[in-house]
Amino acid sequence: MHFLTVLIVPILIANSSGVELWSYFRNQRQDLRVDAADIKFELYTNTNTEVEILSVDSLDDLIKSNYYNRSVRNVFTLHGWTGTILRSMSSGITDAIFASGEPANIFVVDWSIPAGQFYPFVVWSMPSVGQIIANYIDKMIDHFEIEASNFILVGYSVGAHLAGIIGSNVNGTVGQIVGLEPVWIMFSPDDLANVLDKTDAAVVHIAHTTYGFGQAAISMGHADFYFNGGQTQPGCEDSHCSHDRSHIYYAESILSSGFKAVKCSSYEEFKNGDCDGNEEAIFGGYPLDESITGDFHLDTAEAAPFALG
Ligand SMILES: *[C@@H]1O[C@H](CO)[C@@H](O)[C@H](O)[C@H]1NC(C)=O
Ligand SMILES: *[C@@H]1O[C@H](CO)[C@@H](O)[C@H](O)[C@H]1NC(C)=O
Repeated sequence: MHFLTVLIVPILIANSSGVELWSYFRNQRQDLRVDAADIKFELYTNTNTEVEILSVDSLDDLIKSNYYNRSVRNVFTLHGWTGTILRSMSSGITDAIFASGEPANIFVVDWSIPAGQFYPFVVWSMPSVGQIIANYIDKMIDHFEIEASNFILVGYSVGAHLAGIIGSNVNGTVGQIVGLEPVWIMFSPDDLANVLDKTDAAVVHIAHTTYGFGQAAISMGHADFYFNGGQTQPGCEDSHCSHDRSHIYYAESILSSGFKAVKCSSYEEFKNGDCDGNEEAIFGGYPLDESITGDFHLDTAEAAPFALG
């Protein structure tokens, strides 16, 4: 990890005093080109317990795969800043999808080389990373004669915005995007090409567990779920833990229908009972429930299983 990353992370995560620093970097925006060789996919399927590593340069590895099944959904998981998050985030979700018995080709995207840089360089690399992955998906659509609606992108933290960038670059409308705690440092909700929003897929659901960092809650999906108010999570002592909960909740939701949420415009109203009797929705699942729209609130337990039923 870049030494500056180590220096800046605590400032960034611990409080919002980094805000001015980030607006400085936001104004220095550059477009950094990423080499496709710096991105890899790990392919997991229901019929294969051994991972296959796929080069992103061409479709050749996928065409040669003995396990890829063009008849089932394609799930891409996108980790956040720094590569260390890759394993915990993707393995929880991958294991849950296979345990659910639903078929899937799961592409665990390893973009840890560009994602391991100093934060502003990560943000400035994302349009290029997103374009490379979108081109790959376009090639899959052409070669295997499948529909864009067959794709589900699951992104965590900055990876949620990466899912949005991919969705807006794919030729066609991606089926679903699960945005797990999109972080807003150096991103602007007005810059729709570079952030996750509901134009990026037919269905976009977002989990909020740590909004803050100096900005307001921003609902950008067809459905936005605010957990425990969306800022801090019970049983967590720091923001890292609360941030991580977004993908832990999503993995649990694939095997549980217990994350029952209520349509409500604020946590205060939710806690006051003002929203009792409003429309209910279940967070998450694989695939997502396409009929849900709006802002929803729910509470969780402090430890797994988190869903309260
Ligand atoms: C591919 O998926 C379809 C639909 O789930 C299934 O019927 C078929 O057996 C699978 N093919 C292989 C080779 O596993
Ligand atoms: C986009 O998709 C359409 C319909 O499948 C196809 O005709 C067209 O060639 C594609 N465009 C590109 C740039 O791949």
